[in-house]
Amino acid sequence: MTQTGHISGYTETEASTIQHFPKPAEGSWTRSFGLDFAPFSMKDCWDPEFYELEKQAVFMRNWLMVGREIQLPRKGSFFTRELEGLGYSIIIARGMDDKVRAFHNVCSHRGNQLVFEEHPTVEVRGNCRQFTCKYHGWRYALDGEIAYVHNAPEFEGLTHEGLHLPEIHCDTWAGFVFVNFAKEPRESLRDFMGPELVKLETYPWDKLTEHHQLQAVVNSNWKLFVDAFAEFYHVPYVHATLNNPAQADKSADKPPFMLPFFKSYGKHRMLSSGGQFANTKGRGALPSQNVFKATIHGPLTPPDIGPWSEANNPGNLELRGMDMWQFYPNWVVIHWVRNTMVTYQYWPLGPNKHQFIFDYYFVPPKNATERLEQEMVVAVSKDFALQDANVLEATQRRIESQVRTEFYYADQEVLLRHLHHVVAEEVEDYQRGLEGK
Ligand code: FES
Ligand SMILES: [Fe+2]
Repeated sequence: MTQTGHISGYTETEASTIQHFPKPAEGSWTRSFGLDFAPFSMKDCWDPEFYELEKQAVFMRNWLMVGREIQLPRKGSFFTRELEGLGYSIIIARGMDDKVRAFHNVCSHRGNQLVFEEHPTVEVRGNCRQFTCKYHGWRYALDGEIAYVHNAPEFEGLTHEGLHLPEIHCDTWAGFVFVNFAKEPRESLRDFMGPELVKLETYPWDKLTEHHQLQAVVNSNWKLFVDAFAEFYHVPYVHATLNNPAQADKSADKPPFMLPFFKSYGKHRMLSSGGQFANTKGRGALPSQNVFKATIHGPLTPPDIGPWSEANNPGNLELRGMDMWQFYPNWVVIHWVRNTMVTYQYWPLGPNKHQFIFDYYFVPPKNATERLEQEMVVAVSKDFALQDANVLEATQRRIESQVRTEFYYADQEVLLRHLHHVVAEEVEDYQRGLEGK
């Protein structure tokens, strides 16, 4: 099997056009991650049996990011999340004691969904002192305690504890709210992050509060979309129309586009992109971007948000476009060097379907010009994301056909290999646990 590089009878890209960056001491990023170049079956992206195991092994046992604390500005603030693929609706609430808690959104009386407005599948947010069930009026305090049962003497055998809303393990980090559906989580949220990644906490997250969101249901396995953003090998092809054909130098938007740095943090991983394009004060790819003075990387004149955290730029790159943090399993954060931030969430809805949530965060604009710059960044980013999503359904359909059962990852695709490897290990670990019972 071909390992890497030279393939007989195949014309390789002219060496002089490839931007080479130093490889780690192991000779490849793949080996530095403790992985190899073996072909990959992609069965984990379509097999219904694997999908069910993955749900239990990965989504029911790890910490999952479900929102930001700024969505809970006051005591009594709450929001719901509809995690349809996992079969759950959950309430996240800030109690009168200021503590953030998470509950399953189900009434203890006869199981009605406790919090919703017009339609139970639509997420809501608000502020209240108690949650009231629409069906028979039972009420619950913000800490999940039962507060009122209509005609209580008509019941026998009710206990206060028995009526408490089912609570979910919940913790916060860097202003983000995480839940863990395990009865007893294997580790705390901070231990799950690990000592190095946890230091990202001092990034100026709280400066980036201006928010735009895009949601989509994508007909592919969730991991295929994580993969699509975890390599830049596709950029010159998938995003060719958004690259700048007039760019004079052999720059980052000219194929092939290589990434200079990758790193793993246990189950999590990151990459830094080179900054040839992002750092220039130069033009955007399209005339409209030049008018609005903003590209996908952010406004051409970035706002000052103060120093980044000591965990940023672990490769000590001089020129950098972004740090992309892939928090296992399904949350990705991009810190652009122009001081904007993107996050992606990928929520499985089935073996070949997922919900994609794209959040863009900025410093609140001070004037109309800054607002327009930000709108431009979002518009260009949406274009990019749509182009990325475009190949996913086609990939899903063809891997499901099983005409091929071997696929290949380049060294630049090391983060993909790492994700699939970690998921497989977790599924094996979960199965071993089942056998041990
Ligand atoms: S189902 Fe909630 S009060 Fe009856
Ligand atoms: Fe892309």
